Amino acid sequence: MKNIDAKTHVSGTSVYLDDIPLIQGTLYGAALGSPVAHGVLHQLQLEEALREPDVIRIFTAADIPGDNQIGGIIKDEPLLASDHVHFCGMPIAFVVARTREAARAAVKKIKADITPLPVITDPREAQAQNQLIMPPRTFSQGDTEQAWRECAHVFAGAVDINGQEHLYIETQGAYVVPQENNSLRVYSSTQGPTAVQRTVSTTLGQPMHRIEVVVTRLGGGFGGKEDQANTWAALCALAAWHLGKPVKYALHRMEDMAMTGKRHPYMADYKIGLDSSLNIIAYEVTFFQNAGAAADLSPGVLSRTLFHCTNSYYIPNVHATAWSCRTHLPPNTAFRGFGGPQGMFVIEAAIAHAARVLQIDAAVIQQKNLIKTGDEFPYGQIAQSEAGACWQKAATLYDATGWKQAVDAFNATHRLQKKGLAFMPVCFGISFTNTMMNHARSLVHVYTDGSVCISTGAVEMGQGVNTKILQVAAQIFSIRADRVKLNPTNTINIANTSPSAASATADLNGKATLMACNAILERLKEVAATALDTKADAVTIVNEQVLVNREPTGWDWQQLVSAAFTKRVSLSEHAHYATPEIHFDTVKEKGHPFAYHVYGTAILEVTVDCLRGIYKMDAVKVVHDFGSSMNPDIDRGQIEGGIVQGIGWMTMEEVIFDKEGRLRSNALSTYKVPDIYAVPEEIVIDALRSTADNLAIFRSKAVGEPPLMYGIGAWFALRNAILQFNPEADIPFITPMTPEKVLMALYSNKEKGIIQQHEATTSHLGIDQ
Ligand code: MTE
Ligand code: HPA
Ligand code: MOS
Repeated sequence: MKNIDAKTHVSGTSVYLDDIPLIQGTLYGAALGSPVAHGVLHQLQLEEALREPDVIRIFTAADIPGDNQIGGIIKDEPLLASDHVHFCGMPIAFVVARTREAARAAVKKIKADITPLPVITDPREAQAQNQLIMPPRTFSQGDTEQAWRECAHVFAGAVDINGQEHLYIETQGAYVVPQENNSLRVYSSTQGPTAVQRTVSTTLGQPMHRIEVVVTRLGGGFGGKEDQANTWAALCALAAWHLGKPVKYALHRMEDMAMTGKRHPYMADYKIGLDSSLNIIAYEVTFFQNAGAAADLSPGVLSRTLFHCTNSYYIPNVHATAWSCRTHLPPNTAFRGFGGPQGMFVIEAAIAHAARVLQIDAAVIQQKNLIKTGDEFPYGQIAQSEAGACWQKAATLYDATGWKQAVDAFNATHRLQKKGLAFMPVCFGISFTNTMMNHARSLVHVYTDGSVCISTGAVEMGQGVNTKILQVAAQIFSIRADRVKLNPTNTINIANTSPSAASATADLNGKATLMACNAILERLKEVAATALDTKADAVTIVNEQVLVNREPTGWDWQQLVSAAFTKRVSLSEHAHYATPEIHFDTVKEKGHPFAYHVYGTAILEVTVDCLRGIYKMDAVKVVHDFGSSMNPDIDRGQIEGGIVQGIGWMTMEEVIFDKEGRLRSNALSTYKVPDIYAVPEEIVIDALRSTADNLAIFRSKAVGEPPLMYGIGAWFALRNAILQFNPEADIPFITPMTPEKVLMALYSNKEKGIIQQHEATTSHLGIDQ
């Protein structure tokens, strides 16, 4: 089935926040972000800004009637700064004017009197100064201290992983419209309608039932709108509440880039030990998460880093500690993979380090240590593993041996162009790491004409969840897809939702929908059985026809629905689904946190131009564990998008904050994201159809986040290409691997540092000019 949004997307008629027709009298907001990263806020001079034409009012912390608090997990983040500022871009004041231009112009006229304080941007420095979001967490298995003695090889090193700007095409924003009875309707570009509802309710000091949040769809979220849509909704709500007028604020791209948090940068120290047969016996790792100035979702992200610190490998002795470090950057937040990718990069770096010194292919170590069914993850869950199956199939299907030979042959015959190959296995756990969040609801109405509408807490952000939920209803009822419609997500229809995140949206909301549809179906079968004088379990509906003992009855879906209505049988159902089996003990740090794992293996090839340092992605070939995909087209789109986004993070997207905590890469001219030219020339995706039962909807495993991590392989493929040119190259484990870094590495030496290009291309590499 095609994505139900395909036609409106292509014709430009899909509705996003900015497409909502505005009510007459709508006012426009704009936020003043702190110009300094850390300081004491003395006072704001608003007079000049207020004299700007069309300015209505300027709101500050003093105007907040409820709690000036938007922290979701830890209450450490004010909506508007009152006495201190903690990051550049932290909202200080909210201007409301008759036009957007006037609001923005007035923002520039506000003077904030701030005494600067010392700024920390480095997580190791924050940790050394005990600037922590929460106490550190440690996952362990076996006994690393004991295990080092059994190791034939031990390697230690450091890793520095940069962040990533979400760059959803639709920027953050909200539109708040006052309703009767002191209520507000909030249109928000959010992944978490309930989070927005709760934040507006807290800051206004009003009960949640007065706040209705409506989301039709997002122009992308990628985690950036799981928690950080709340701010803009709360600011618009604050103004709408005081003024009794509709208020809208959609951020300018540069405001969005400067004011919102990103993927967490991490630093890490690792130590890996292997026995003489290349089994990884022990692994110790310490993560320093750069949380930014407030907790936001950092504690959750930190836990996923620990859950995925051994990626697809079984390691009997593991000791992993993670520190969430408070710095003066905008609070970093969820981003596709939610801390998992950072954990995986570090183990891949450790393996690459070992392989280089041992002068073998990293793939040998990777393959040897893949986790098997029955092995235990460091957090206690027993693996039901497809890691080996994916690897084997990829190696065979894509002829890894022949491929490597072709790359070697190319490298032997090319002086200034070198190819690199890398394998990237992925293992990603599906479920919110916080067990409590794994539940969802669905409300299904069948109308008397046989058409069906569905409301769930799922937010459509391009990932195709609405199509999948529609498929669930059409399949359970066995009716035409065009009889089913998905409603905009609305907190009045569906309450207390978890955000659409953790790749679990289709599983959770799809299963709730399945339950609701089944409940209605059972009632309809009873109606048919009574009317046709048979038993309910003899009745089935197939392609809109009502069958008894598989024989046509002459009744169709529409007649059945009408009959049920006449008999005063309910044609509506609200169902609740909570993932069974999962649990986790955060004291012991053991349990069974994930409904299941998604596995896969990618093989990546790159070609480096060794004069210029530029490179291209030749191919990414994947075997991905789909379970049994309910929509292969959508899933393929998710994999392609994830791969490109992952490659962008690893190679070209470079978030740069200066020492004063100001974002330097604050526009698309200074922050480079993959465009069509950066997309691998070839992306091949093959499905591992695993038959094992799982808790996914229709056994169709979650696909939203896992493929991003295939992109990590691009970094290691580039490293391998550089080593082909210069076996002595100094290639620190720092991301992203921009062309500048590739160039420096090509002409570097582990002992001597950077060497001259001339020297490198002649004497050092023994190349005859
Ligand atoms: N795909 C598109 N097109 N747009 C998005 O914003 N977000 C990703 C992924 N794929 C995203 C996307 C992230 S971070 C997650 S968690 C999942 O989709 C969320 O949707 P799902 O739970 O339905 O997979
Ligand atoms: N993944 C993504 N988002 C989340 C999670 C998670 O595990 N937990 C809370 N928000
Ligand atoms: Mo995705 S990072 O769980 O929104």
